[in-house]
Amino acid sequence: MILAVVAIAAACIAVWLSHGFLYTVAASILFAALYAAVFHTRWCYVAVKTTPRDLRALISYIQILWTARKFAKRNWTLPDIFHDVVQRHPDKPCFMFQDEVWTFKEVEDFSLRMTAVMRAQGIKKGNVVGLLVNNCPQLPALWLGNARLGAVTPLINTNQRGNALLHSINVAACDVLIFSEEYNSAIQDISKELSPSLKLFKFTHRPLQTSSPKQALGSGDTIPDLTCLLEATPPAPWTLADADGFHGKLLYIYTSGTTGLPKAAVISNTRYVFMATGIHFLRLKKSDRIYCPLPLYHTAGGVISVGQALILGCTVVLKAKFSASQYFPDCAKYKATAAHYIGEMCRYILATPPSPTDTQHNVRIIFGNGLRPQIWTEFLKRFNVKHVIEFYGATEGNANIANTDGTPGAIGFLSRIIPAVYPIAIIKVDQETGEPIRNSQGLCQLAEPDEPGVFIGKITPNNPSREYLGYVDKAASQKKVVKDVFAHGDQAFISGDILVADELGYLYFRDRTGDTFRWRGENVSTTEVEAAISRVADHRDAVVYGVLVPNIEGRAGMCGIVDTDGSLDLDQLARALARDLPAYARPVFLRVMGSVDLTGTFKMKKTDLQKEGFDPAQVNNDKLYYLDGKLGRYLPLGTDEYEKIVKGEIRI
Ligand SMILES: *[C@@H]1O[C@H](CO)[C@@H](O)[C@H](O)[C@H]1NC(C)=O
Ligand SMILES: *[C@@H]1O[C@H](CO)[C@@H](O)[C@H](O)[C@H]1NC(C)=O
Repeated sequence: MILAVVAIAAACIAVWLSHGFLYTVAASILFAALYAAVFHTRWCYVAVKTTPRDLRALISYIQILWTARKFAKRNWTLPDIFHDVVQRHPDKPCFMFQDEVWTFKEVEDFSLRMTAVMRAQGIKKGNVVGLLVNNCPQLPALWLGNARLGAVTPLINTNQRGNALLHSINVAACDVLIFSEEYNSAIQDISKELSPSLKLFKFTHRPLQTSSPKQALGSGDTIPDLTCLLEATPPAPWTLADADGFHGKLLYIYTSGTTGLPKAAVISNTRYVFMATGIHFLRLKKSDRIYCPLPLYHTAGGVISVGQALILGCTVVLKAKFSASQYFPDCAKYKATAAHYIGEMCRYILATPPSPTDTQHNVRIIFGNGLRPQIWTEFLKRFNVKHVIEFYGATEGNANIANTDGTPGAIGFLSRIIPAVYPIAIIKVDQETGEPIRNSQGLCQLAEPDEPGVFIGKITPNNPSREYLGYVDKAASQKKVVKDVFAHGDQAFISGDILVADELGYLYFRDRTGDTFRWRGENVSTTEVEAAISRVADHRDAVVYGVLVPNIEGRAGMCGIVDTDGSLDLDQLARALARDLPAYARPVFLRVMGSVDLTGTFKMKKTDLQKEGFDPAQVNNDKLYYLDGKLGRYLPLGTDEYEKIVKGEIRI
């Protein structure tokens, strides 16, 4: 190497002496390039392959920061940002829903009525007004109305009942709760345990009849009807919000998690803007019409899609409930040009029978997170969609990434050439506990390409992309923070998701920590096994988990699989899995379920299934099977077989 440098220096001097200064510059560049090509071939290869991707993303990143800076300077909150958009095109459709079209002006007017009603109720800066409201165009308008008064709005998951619902209302310390009238009985069920100071209102989805407002208050102690109050109250005159400015709190959004009660994550105006513009500047346009069949109480629907309308002026099509068979027909009906997906939706859509409507739409781009690598190409081809933006980011976290160039299966990338621009990283962890593995100085270590590790985002307060606001519950927030990462005293948000980067820096999802179990000395990834099963079983819902078997080390794989019509062929499944999975990863037990309990994000409830295990006494309506290793078939598992397995008389 020293020889090479000396040789290059000598050559440069020779050129200078014979040809003058300009030639020398040209020659040095040439020599430097030659040097790099010869001694760092691999680096050059990576640089050539990834520079266009990195530059494109850098431009988007600058646009995002630029937009955020503009709002920060004006110290605007969402209602102020929205007002600016309304001024530009008051009559453009903002939301479409069933047969309703709401213009930007109409959405703002509705929000101004809400401001007036809540002000009359004494709501002011710092109060909390919870919404347990179904998807409809009024929902964002309701929270915009609150935000204008500086009130924070928790968006409560409408699937919740009983204790979880009570917890969501209490953990946010709601002063007011507004609920869609169909949740009346859910509220009645917990009414005794609600704080007596909590003011309740019910909300009815119907057009406002402002000319002949009905009486809002029923007789006696019935709950007042917000819709009637909105009809009876003229919109507040428009003013800038009286809130805590751009960095102030806007919403609480609950993360479901597979264990424990929901946690309320804090969404500031800053973070709202960052998440929505983050997706927008990658490939969407202001003229796009976006189809969003997702619940508006999650980040995906409520922030990323709705934000396209509120901040960027796109038209967003809302839907009461996701329907796989209606997805593309709806896109055609509403003339959508972009569509949003999450989690397993794509698999459900792909499982619908082929139809001419598959390609009779104008959707050029789909965006979301959870499009599985196994169905990526098939999905795009069948539905004739050009681009995908697959992104990844935890609601409560600060680590966001996106796959900007459509590389199949990747959920984002890390620049290999200039990693410092965007301080996220993958660090080595113990795959079972999820704890970082530290070096002799007590610091974390970066994972090598192709080595799985946990995804982290460095925390820098007051930078919208790097801030970590965590949950309302401070103790829960601290659990997601890791200290002394790359230097003593620094901090990072630890996502709990295991990712792996390839040589070019593309990131692939592996697992959530805790989603691996050990069996026969091997680590089994539940995500991988689930994907394999779903693929060979016609994209059915399958959930994989490890169960304890007495006197056997590790956990045996068990798979809950849905079979609503009795068409699941277990012999064929066993054969297909023997072909596709290593022996240790094949599920030892099967639980065939007639129906399935899904959480709001379409994830099956693993923890409950895991608790019930393979004991027939604990599993009520479902059929159990175990894998007979010799026969390579699944055999029915009743009380007898259960006893024998426990005693070790049947070897598994
Ligand atoms: C924004 O407004 C809030 C509330 O009025 C204030 O506390 C904050 O200091 C302001 N921030 C800036 C940057 O002006
Ligand atoms: C399984 O994971 C553990 C904990 O991360 C690790 O120590 C072990 O080497 C892994 N085993 C295999 C076979 O990969």
